[in-house]
Formats: sequence, structure tokens, C-alpha cells
Amino acid sequence: MPAVIVVGTQWGDEGKGKIVDYCSKHADFVIRYQGGTNAGHTIVLGEKVFKLRLVPSGVFYGNRVLIGSGVVIDPEVLLKEIDDLTSNGVDVSLVVSGKAHVILPYHPILDGSWEKTRGKGEIDTTKRGIGPTYTDKIARRGIRVFDLVNKTYEERVRWNVRLANRILQYVLQVGHKLDVKEILQQCSNWSDRLLGYVGNVSEVINSALQEKQNVLFEGAQATFLDIDHGTYPYVTSSNPIAGGACVGAGVGPTRIDKVLGVCKAYTTRVGKGPFPTELDDDVGFHLRETGREFGTVTGRPRRCGWLDLNMIRYASMINGLTSLALTKLDVLNGLEHLKICVGYRWRGLDTTSLPIHDMGSCEPIYIELEGWETLLHGDKLCSEAKAYIAKIEEETGLSVDYISTGPKRVDTICRRSVW
Ligand code: GDP
Ligand code: IMO
Ligand code: MG
Repeated sequence: MPAVIVVGTQWGDEGKGKIVDYCSKHADFVIRYQGGTNAGHTIVLGEKVFKLRLVPSGVFYGNRVLIGSGVVIDPEVLLKEIDDLTSNGVDVSLVVSGKAHVILPYHPILDGSWEKTRGKGEIDTTKRGIGPTYTDKIARRGIRVFDLVNKTYEERVRWNVRLANRILQYVLQVGHKLDVKEILQQCSNWSDRLLGYVGNVSEVINSALQEKQNVLFEGAQATFLDIDHGTYPYVTSSNPIAGGACVGAGVGPTRIDKVLGVCKAYTTRVGKGPFPTELDDDVGFHLRETGREFGTVTGRPRRCGWLDLNMIRYASMINGLTSLALTKLDVLNGLEHLKICVGYRWRGLDTTSLPIHDMGSCEPIYIELEGWETLLHGDKLCSEAKAYIAKIEEETGLSVDYISTGPKRVDTICRRSVW
């Protein structure tokens, strides 16, 4: 019966894909509500590894999956993803919102070119055109899926390409010239293929909720990459937080029952921006190598550091978290001592709150806990890992309902189901 939002509590790549897949077993509908092809959600099924960028991670349990209006869609990537899943024997029952905006070939070019002009101040985006597509959406000149399938895009695409060419030539001064004919041809190719997937997503979700079915809302990116509440300007251009699920799926806040925060047992970040608990030593190296912390979309090495509970408390407040899924606990295997950040020293003050506008000036205050060699004894967690989890629960006031001890479905301990 519940509507459950799954949201990242850190800087992304917490293992949301794995947790959404796991929880989807008992879901009827799974919907992605924001972000775009900047996301990379990994699901490991036996020997197969799927890295989803747009199709919701609930697709493997045969659920109805939906892409809401808050998502920006690169049709080329979406159609290829559907083809790849289908050729792997996965039944894709997908509905895409006509209100979702489309990433067109000029968006990634603009993304990369804007980044270049920022020089050292670059955000280090995924260069998938996310920022420029959301910019067009807010500026009310974007192309929506509706426009593609109804073939009402030509005039606006021509106008946008003219504008993009001027920006590239005169503002960014890069020698790229876009060919409008080629882009229009691509739009026409996508139009027919997308037609079969377009539907009224908010109506589908709201009637599912009315009929008391289980709906999972899958967030991409995470709280600290949120355009409003993250480490601006080092953020993405959408609202990954739980509030974004209502906007991006088209459901009212009164419909939501639970918000599950996905929290990695340590912290990672890919791209620029402040990171108080970042480690530039052997432990950081251990986390990166053991946790295979290299970007799912871009292959970039992720920055690694200790778990920061000030961040999780902030994420709890901003998202209204009701519980946590703790992932990648196994990656801490073999570390003799573990540190957890429980507060900051900020401008001479000790604080357990988070000055998001000045996170770069925060020095972590750590407590130290005993590490472990082997996380699991049979199917039981070792006492040191239990103490690590208990500390997280004590400091955040949240219960850790799921514990992930490896990438596969079987490597999951469910203490209390969200359903
Ligand atoms: P997402 O973007 O939040 O869905 O996370 P990603 O898929 O980008 O990154 C998480 C990575 O960690 C993927 O390679 C997962 O297969 C892997 N993973 C997820 N949970 C665990 C876990 O508990 N232990 C280990 N070792 N790997 C995990
Ligand atoms: P998932 O859903 C980690 C980061 C980029 C960059 C910033 C802005 O897999 O957790 P963008 O291309 O969105 O304009 O880049 O946000 N970023 C992510 N980092 N996981 C992600 O998604 C990310 N999506 C964007 O690295 O710093
Ligand atoms: Mg990812």
C-alpha cells in the first residue's frame, strides 16, 4: 500500500540502484522522478551487471516502470537502454511522461563548452547536457517528449539551434557549428519509436496509489547534489531530494508514506566541491580500490572519505527520512580502526548542524571505532559492525532497516521492510 521514496543521502553512487531493485520485489510501480543520463545505477544479477541511466531500477522484477516529467531524456540513450534490456531477456513495461524534457545533441556540446570557459572553477559535470537541458526547461524554450511524438518541434528546434550556434560562436568562442538538418532528422527518427512509450504518468501513479498499490520513487544523484539544498554551485541541475519526487512524478506530498535514505558506509564524491571527511591517504586508497569507486557513467575515480553523520542528519532533515539503507559495509573489511564524523568545527565553533553555504570551512570531529577483518560470520554481522551501525542509529535517530554487504541481491540484510 505505501508510497516510498528512495533518495541518496550523500553525493550520489550510494547504491540506490541496488536498493531500489531489492525493494522492487514487492513494488507494483517504480518511477524515476528527476535527473537524466548523468545517473548510473548498477544492478548485479548473477553474472550480469546492468548500469541503468534512465530506465528505473525496478525493471528486473517485471514491474511497471515509469519516467516522470522531472527527468531529462536523451532519446538515443533511452532507446538503446530499452534495446539492451530487451536483448538480455528483460521485459520492459515502460511509460514515459510527455512532459519530460528532451536532451538534444546541442546540450552535451554546450555543457562541455561552458565547463571549459569556467577553467579552474569548473563543476566537473558528467557532460551529458544535463545543465543546459534544465536551463532550457526553466527558460521555457525546451523541447518536451510531447513535442517529439506530436511532431511539433521543428520551429523551436530551429530557433534553439540558431541560439546555440550563436552562444558557441560568440559567447563561448568554440569552433563548433551545429547542423540543424541533422538534428531534425534525429528528432524525426526518435519520434516514431518513442510514441509507443508515452503516457500520462501522473495519472497512472495517482490511480495506483488510489488502488493502494505499492509505488517506489527512485531518486538519482543525491541530497548534496540538489540544486537548492546541496553544495551549490557544485551540484546538479535538478532536485534529487524527496520533495523533488512529488514535483517530478506529479503526486501530492500527502500521498507519500516513507522516505528511505540510501547511505554508503563511507563517503564518496565525483566532481569538484567541498568534502570535509575526504582522505588522501592509504585509507582513501583502500576505499577506492576495494569499493571500486570509479564513476559508473564517466569512469572517473571517485574521491573517498570517512562516513559523515553531520551530512546524514542534514539529509534526514531535508528529506524527512524515515529510515536508512546502509550500503557497502563490506568495503570497510580489513581496516583496523574506523572513524565516523559526528560534528564539525566551524569558524571556531563545534556544531552538529551543517552550514551548507560554507562546507569547505568545516573540519570534521571524529570518533573512532574498532574495525573488523570479516564482516559476516555465516549470515550474522560481527560485533564491531553491529557497533558501527548502532552508532549511526544513535547519532541520526534513524533506524538502519537495510544493510548491504555486497553488490548482489543476496548480499542484503533486511531488518524491517519498507512495505
Ligand atoms: P547508485 O548511483 O546510487 O545506484 O550507485 P552506483 O551503481 O553508481 O554505485 C554503487 C556501486 O557499488 C555499484 O558498482 C554497485 O554494484 C556497488 N554496490 C552496491 N552495494 C554494494 C555493497 O553493499 N557492497 C559492495 N562491495 N558493492 C556494492
Ligand atoms: P547517480 O544517480 C554521482 C555529479 C557530477 C558533477 C555534478 C554535476 O549515479 O548517483 P551534472 O552532469 O549532473 O551537471 O554534474 O554532479 N553527478 C553525480 N555524481 N552520482 C551521480 O548520479 C551523479 N550525477 C551527477 O559528477 O560533480
Ligand atoms: Mg551512480
